[in-house]
Amino acid sequence: MKPVLREVRRFPEFVRWRNPLLILLMVLRETLRPFMYWYIFDIFETDLRLPGPEPYSKESFEVRIYGGNKDLKRAVEDLTCLDDLLPADIELRFSRGDVVAVAYAADEAVGCMWLTFSTGMELGLGTSWILEATEALRYGAFVRPDWRGRALHSVLNNTLNRYAQQRRILRTLSGISVFNSQSRRLHKRFRSARAMRVFLFRVRGVKWTYRKALGAPLESRFAVAPGFQSRSARSPMDAHRLWKIAAQLLSFQTSRRRESGTRS
Ligand SMILES: CC(C)(COP(=O)(O)OP(=O)(O)OC[C@H]1O[C@@H](n2cnc3c(N)ncnc32)[C@H](O)[C@@H]1OP(=O)(O)O)[C@@H](O)C(=O)NCCC(=O)NCCS
Repeated sequence: MKPVLREVRRFPEFVRWRNPLLILLMVLRETLRPFMYWYIFDIFETDLRLPGPEPYSKESFEVRIYGGNKDLKRAVEDLTCLDDLLPADIELRFSRGDVVAVAYAADEAVGCMWLTFSTGMELGLGTSWILEATEALRYGAFVRPDWRGRALHSVLNNTLNRYAQQRRILRTLSGISVFNSQSRRLHKRFRSARAMRVFLFRVRGVKWTYRKALGAPLESRFAVAPGFQSRSARSPMDAHRLWKIAAQLLSFQTSRRRESGTRS
């Protein structure tokens, strides 16, 4: 399916599961994008030495973990059609030691989540993660749209935490945008305490960036340096793309109306 059509199909879901105020804020942010941009991330930490909450999915999934050269072919086959990742992205992630948990339903890949052990992944606006040797970062969670709302996210999250534990990792981390209501539900359900809230704000013309963290000093967790991106292809859906999709939807509907008008 063409990316535009895929986005058009995702549009109702994007709006449905977000608070209208958040949508307004995202639209405002994207309107101001040529001049300024901002992110607000909540940082969550999971102490793997403590008993963690159980996944709350009522369905059962087979979850496999891939990483390294031997798994590359299978991961590329299953993930490129799932999350639009490029084979080069997957290769790059594996080459730096990242692993991915892939969930299967009837042998079809329906969701995934990544784990990196490397310091330097970019949070945003030239601000990158610092990881200790006993820490790992969960990122890139994705559940196929027709499998969302079945708590697969919690299953993937739990699988990666258990995997990290086996690798003698003591703490896993994640950074969730305050605009990502669906992703934040996991932490709400687990009642996870937020370790930090990070504000990143950039004025584009003068390349001025303001960074502020609440809860802990920014430098305790982040370096001011452009880190590696989690994907080379395209960024996750944001309101800028939302605008484009809305415009495309409108023009699509208008042309359909015109077509049916011509026919009748
Ligand atoms: C974020 C994401 C991984 C969550 O996966 P999931 O397995 O659907 O998670 P859950 O089943 O716990 O649902 C989370 C919330 O999504 C919403 N939701 C419920 N049904 C849904 C559906 N059919 N479709 C979409 N969202 C739905 C609900 O708010 C739900 O919370 P609740 O169950 O407490 O009401 C998934 O929505 C996704 O892939 N989103 C796009 C990529 C993304 O944003 N990744 C996160 C990067 S940090």
